[in-house]
Amino acid sequence: MRTDTAQIVRLEDYRPGDFLIDRVELDVRLHPTATRITAILALRPNPEGRADAPLRLDGDELKLKALAIDGRALPAGEFEASPQELVIAQPPRRPFTLTIETEIDPTSNTKLMGLYRSSGNYCTQCEAEGFRRITYFLDRPDVMAVYTTRIEAGRDEAPVLLGNGNLVESGDVDGTGRHFAVWHDPHPKPSYLFALVGGRLGKIAKPFTTMSGREVELAVYVEPGKENRADYALDALERSMRWDERVFDREYDLDVFNIVAVSDFNMGAMENKGLNIFNDKYVLASPEMATDADYANIEAIIAHEYFHNWSGNRVTCRDWFQLCLKEGLTVFRDQEFSSDERSRPVHRIAEVKTLRARQFVEDAGPLAHPVRPAQYREINNFYTATVYEKGAEIVRMLKTIIGDEDFRRGMDLYFERCDGTAATVEDFLRAFADVTGRDLSHFARWYVQSGTPRVTVRGAYDEGAKTYRLDFEQVTPPTPGQPVKEPMAIPVVLGLVARDGRPLQATGERVSRHGVFMLDKTTDSLTFEDVATPPVPSVFRGFSAPVKTSLDLSNEELLVLLRHDTDAFNRWEASQTVAMRLLVSLSKGDPILDEDMLGLSSALNSFISNDAMRDPAFAALVLTLPSEADIAQEIGRDIDPDAIHHARIEMRRRIGQACRGNLQELYTGLADTGAYSPDAASAGRRALRNVTLDLLAGADPDLGERTAREQFESASNMTDRLASLNVLMTLPGDAREHAIDTFEERYRDEPLVLDKWFTLQAAIPEDATLKRVRRLMSHPGFSISNPNRVRSLVGSFAMLNQMQFNRADGSGYDFLAEIVLRVDELNPQLAARLLTAFGTWRMMEKMRRSHAKNALLRIAGKPNLSRDVSDIAQRSLE
Ligand code: ARG
Ligand code: ZN
Repeated sequence: MRTDTAQIVRLEDYRPGDFLIDRVELDVRLHPTATRITAILALRPNPEGRADAPLRLDGDELKLKALAIDGRALPAGEFEASPQELVIAQPPRRPFTLTIETEIDPTSNTKLMGLYRSSGNYCTQCEAEGFRRITYFLDRPDVMAVYTTRIEAGRDEAPVLLGNGNLVESGDVDGTGRHFAVWHDPHPKPSYLFALVGGRLGKIAKPFTTMSGREVELAVYVEPGKENRADYALDALERSMRWDERVFDREYDLDVFNIVAVSDFNMGAMENKGLNIFNDKYVLASPEMATDADYANIEAIIAHEYFHNWSGNRVTCRDWFQLCLKEGLTVFRDQEFSSDERSRPVHRIAEVKTLRARQFVEDAGPLAHPVRPAQYREINNFYTATVYEKGAEIVRMLKTIIGDEDFRRGMDLYFERCDGTAATVEDFLRAFADVTGRDLSHFARWYVQSGTPRVTVRGAYDEGAKTYRLDFEQVTPPTPGQPVKEPMAIPVVLGLVARDGRPLQATGERVSRHGVFMLDKTTDSLTFEDVATPPVPSVFRGFSAPVKTSLDLSNEELLVLLRHDTDAFNRWEASQTVAMRLLVSLSKGDPILDEDMLGLSSALNSFISNDAMRDPAFAALVLTLPSEADIAQEIGRDIDPDAIHHARIEMRRRIGQACRGNLQELYTGLADTGAYSPDAASAGRRALRNVTLDLLAGADPDLGERTAREQFESASNMTDRLASLNVLMTLPGDAREHAIDTFEERYRDEPLVLDKWFTLQAAIPEDATLKRVRRLMSHPGFSISNPNRVRSLVGSFAMLNQMQFNRADGSGYDFLAEIVLRVDELNPQLAARLLTAFGTWRMMEKMRRSHAKNALLRIAGKPNLSRDVSDIAQRSLE
């Protein structure tokens, strides 16, 4: 495909299709290399379309075998078929059926889009445009049809046959060794939600009774023998279903809900109607092999995909520009679920850490785009942190602004009005405008303007008048295609804290009854009356808007917030801001004042003794220093990753030494007791203990090595084992290499655990790592065609190892470029994902910048690139 001529799809060009499809009957005869698909489509002209238009069906690498209209074979002159399109110039101008027979090769489908084989099992991935790799179709989400799917396969090869909806019939095909299953999904859906599975799979199941008394079977299918690792996923599914009933009044609507885990998958999971397909990494877990973070991810992704049944499936998207309509909303819903199941403040901090690490970085780089993009060349490149995470922040801000009750009423109205339709962002906002009577047109700018606003806040106390004034100013830096920015409607949740810790009244006519001040102009100010003493302002509580802030607070004032704020998010934020200031100074080679260092370490010391055990998960977050990537973002230009790395090591050493006694006590006090449980409280204790170990190792490498080795040998679960290994990775020497070997020995037959082993080594902050990564690419457990393996080794090197990926000699960039080009020939989506690691290249110092640019130019100049990779390469260079 020639990429510079690749078409740009624009939102403004949207128009309804010329035809609709009401029903689809599929007959799929599975065969490893020659699967036959017969599709009978019930078509009719769209009253909103053009009356004389040809019928153009999308295809992708298809082979047409037969074609008929209303059962009559179509003569050769009446259609044109290529692998990517089927055109019928003069189709009937009334309802008719089109029968299409195609043949595909699932075994050689390495793109993992459409129908493919993973470990011998057949599965599908159709979002965004994979259905057209199965049959010719109107492959756009506003074409919604009722599907009946007959799947046939060899009984030995694929004893399990699954489709969307409910099973209506199954049996043997006499005398052939083959069998079939017929699945019917009564809910009209777009083709991207189609799925089928065939293979040898083990199953665990449990019954579920919905709120109205409907009986549903919940099942999880995994590789035979791994059934006992699927319990947590099944439990998370049941909890998600209960939660959606209780919190959003949403009930499930089929007789079965199936989840299938596959080992080759481009993304996390997929919400196909009644048949979710998952990357096995987000299903399989056991204490021996999964970490606390794995358990939390499984819970969140199971919930996410289940919640799509309403936000995505019952109400779907009109076109792919509306992707955030389902993804942002569903991320918001899964975040709320995890917050309810775990600890709300701790989860909020985790969400914000991810948002900053991924979305803020994206928004500050060449790939910045609005939550609702206005154009795309390749839609798969828009499954981004911006669409997902910033999309969720917009929903959260809406809830903050209008309050919980109106938010719930608006959601109800949205689901009721849009059920069974393909909707837009406007439809979503209209529901909330209608229930509140508010004008949300300014707020809607969050969907169209890219870039992260920076809000500067200055406070002034008037001793005589006893008033306190806050001055706000917002600026959004230019982003690609958007040189000029308008002010955003930013909800600021705020409060005032007295220096002795008492909360002060912070009401006023400009602060709503939900405690929100709306900053919707470039500058504004807010005055509080009757403020008895000079306060410390606590702004953007709970991270009430996805913005960067500059506060004119001293470190000492920030540490008042760490000690006393009633808002847990801002307590954490205060600790991070002070640490960040010191880290930035150290990175730039500026002197840091002893009193500033002492201020932070004594605040942390008293935090450890007074607060750490009250909420260990929260304490672990407070005691974790900003990452190297965070520091780079804060510096923003002419970045020297070596300097940042050494600054962080230095800070870790100083904090570790200053808090040593307290840390040691914590480490011992939090010792592992009893059986592993993945619950949030237990995970919090482990997190705190492991942060403690890391700081102790920073303070005293010998002690660190001894303790980490002991923990590695005695650990009863993967969380503690991996944490000790992570600490050992920072300590070169025999102990480290021995631990690496022991781990490999133990888990060489467990691909998902070996992934952790690849990641560990890819992140080692030393010069020899690039060589090590290259060597690991020929490890028998590595495979260039498996997305999880590639991401664990190559992806982690590029994303987690700031110093080595951004090597001064450019060899880190060259390596990534080489792998991207290799992967592109197999799996363009995966290659394009890896390539986004270049998103920070313009922020690097001159030498690195020029090496990175050369690597990008080399990629962009390669002939026959996929559209996925060429799109990212070109935008990265613009
Ligand atoms: N809708 C899926 C989710 O729940 C993501 C699927 C994206 N797949 C793709 N090939 N772009 O987030
Ligand atoms: Zn999703």
